[in-house]
This record gives sequence, structure tokens and C-alpha cells, in this order.
Amino acid sequence: MAPERIMLDVLRGAKRTPPPIWLMRQAGRYLPEYREMRKTAGSFLDLCYNPDFAVEVTLQPIRRFGFDASILFSDILVVPHALGRKLEFHEGRGPIMEPIDLSQVDRLDGEGFHEHLEPVYETVRRLRAELPAETTLLGFCGAPWTVATYMIAGHGTPDQAPARLATFRQPAEMTRLLDLVAEQSAEYLIRQIDAGADAVQIFDSWSGVLDEAAFETCCIEPVRKIVERVRAVHPDTPIIGFPKGAGSLYDSYRAKTGVTALGLDWSVPLSQARKLQAQGAVQGNLDPLRLVAGGRALEEGIDRILEGLGDGPLIFNLGHGITPQAPIAHVEAMIARVRNASGRG
Ligand code: CP3
Repeated sequence: MAPERIMLDVLRGAKRTPPPIWLMRQAGRYLPEYREMRKTAGSFLDLCYNPDFAVEVTLQPIRRFGFDASILFSDILVVPHALGRKLEFHEGRGPIMEPIDLSQVDRLDGEGFHEHLEPVYETVRRLRAELPAETTLLGFCGAPWTVATYMIAGHGTPDQAPARLATFRQPAEMTRLLDLVAEQSAEYLIRQIDAGADAVQIFDSWSGVLDEAAFETCCIEPVRKIVERVRAVHPDTPIIGFPKGAGSLYDSYRAKTGVTALGLDWSVPLSQARKLQAQGAVQGNLDPLRLVAGGRALEEGIDRILEGLGDGPLIFNLGHGITPQAPIAHVEAMIARVRNASGRG
């Protein structure tokens, strides 16, 4: 019999009680075993590109907590790296790229793209073989807008002003960059699914900095293209869209992009989340700092989500990635509380 993956069931619109649970950035610095591997590997990119390391750190949170989904360990910036852009990660400073001059976008090419990313595909193949049968394996990529913000600025910024300015000053070049990243990201997701990913998530961490018109051209349109291309090859694979900070622009995002499920950040009110859930699965949306604080703040946050969204297709998650300060005991307490919610209808 085919194994039952409850997360896949929910992605297809079913309600499960208790809901499936996993955490964005569940493999990471809050885990001592991750910090240990990170030291052994030497650099963050060595972790991403060495299947032995990448498989191990992906499995760490599954072994420790038994999450319902396992997310491939990699980074959204391997896509521009595979397009030939320089990329380094510096401890405590995040990613550093060589800023791209938008007039040179046409020189970016996809030659050698899949060869560069082959270790990631190998990681996915090995993971599907090693994971428990009931664990959903998630592939992912960054949304073109979020990837472009790092390609343009060369590093993280508080408000992505360089990429927003580029959007307004050089709209045609910006569209070409987003199109190219969308095409390559779609091919990347298709290969991850070929290799064994059960579902994929598109992370648009910086969609909240755009006005309505720019959100349409820079967030909706490139993600719609990715969904269309992936669906043409893998029509049944669920796709989760996570347009962090989109606010009221969440309302039409699913219909316009075609994503299967919506990842919600913690600023989305439960009343809005319930309306979004009427159209399909939602994922989220606990404030990651409630997990750091623990105690009543954590319990109240969990209970509100379960009460507000527990009657429909819900994937319990944080509203963004887990932070390095999150105590492991709080993660354990959260999982226990979510899973003990089973008495509730
Ligand atoms: O969720 C997982 O467990 C899978 C792995 C994963 C990582 N990054 C590992 C990582 C995923 C899905 C990502 C996505 C990612 N990467 C996003 C989108 C989601 C989000 O968090 O907004 C973005 C914007 C990036 C780019 C990136 N990578 C930044 C800005 C940073 C620095 C911030 C930080 O936390 O250090 C990274 C580094 C990074 N990616 C780490 C991890 C575990 C920490 C690196 C380290 O170990 O030193």
C-alpha cells in the first residue's frame, strides 16, 4: 500500500486533526547537531553542495522531532550561483553576491545550470530513499523577486531599496531578469520533483516591500510562470506559495499565480486566513518570536491558530523561519501541543 503522507493530503484540501507540522528553516543553527556539521563542512555552501552533508542536516530535525515534512537543505541563492553569479556566505552577515549590472542581464545564461545543481538533485534522491515513508519531502526555490533583490543589492538590506529602484528605473531589464530567473527556477523545481520531491515551496520573503502594481509585475507574474511551467510537466505536484508580508494582496495571490497552498506570515489576521482557507490549504502562521519566548505566549499563539484554522486544511508552521535563539524545549512543547489537539473534532 502507498504510504500515507498527511501533509500531502492537506495540500490537496483535506482537513486533518491534528494538523501536519513542520518549520521553515527547521534545519539550522538552533540545533547543536547542525552547528557541529557546519563546522565539519567548513562553509555553508559546502553543506549545500555536498550530498553527504546536505542529507545529514536535512534529516537531523526529522530524527529529533518527527516533523511531517522534510525540506531539502539548500539555499534559494544556489539558483543565481548556478547562473554564474558569485556567492559567498559570511558568518553572521548572510549572503554576499557580486551586484549585477542590469544592462548585463542578457549575458546570464543557463549553460551548465543543471550540472552545477546536480549535487542538490542527488541530495533529493537520497533523501526520498532515506526518509520515513510517511514524511513528505519538500523541494523549494526562491521566488524570482526575492532572488533578484540579492542579485541586485549583493547582500541583504532592510527594505530592498536597490531592487525597488531598479524596478522603477529599468523596468524592461528587470522584467528580463525576473523572466530568466523564473524559467531557470521552474526547471530547477521540475528536476527536484523528478528526483523525488513530493511538493515544492516558492519562498518570496521580500514581496511585502512592493506597491500593488509592482507586486503584480514582480511577484505575481514570475511566480505564475513558474507554476505554469512546473504544472505542464508535473500536473499533480502541490506547490506552496509564500509571499511574505503581502497583506491584503494575499487575497488574489492563489487565483492569479495558480499555487496550490498559501504560506501565511504572522501578520495575516485569522479572519483573513479563514477566508483564504476557503479556497484551499493554508500554512502558518505563528510568530517565530512566540517560539523563542515560550510559556503562555507560545501556548496562546498555538491555540489561536488551531481554533481559528483547525476546521479546514491547515499545515501548522511558523510565519517565517525559526531563529537561532529558539530553545529546543520550546520546539518540543509546541509540537506536543499541536499534536495533542486531536480531541478537537
Ligand atoms: O528550511 C530549511 O531548513 C531548508 C533550508 C533553507 C535555508 N535557507 C538554509 C539556510 C531554506 C529553505 C532557505 C531559504 C532562504 N535563503 C530564503 C527564503 C526564506 C527566508 O528565510 O526568508 C532566503 C531569503 C535565503 C537567503 C539567505 N540564506 C539569507 C538571507 C541567509 C542569512 C540569514 C541567516 O539566517 O543566516 C541565509 C543563510 C542560511 N540559509 C542559513 C541556513 C541554515 C544559515 C547559514 C549558516 O549556517 O551560517
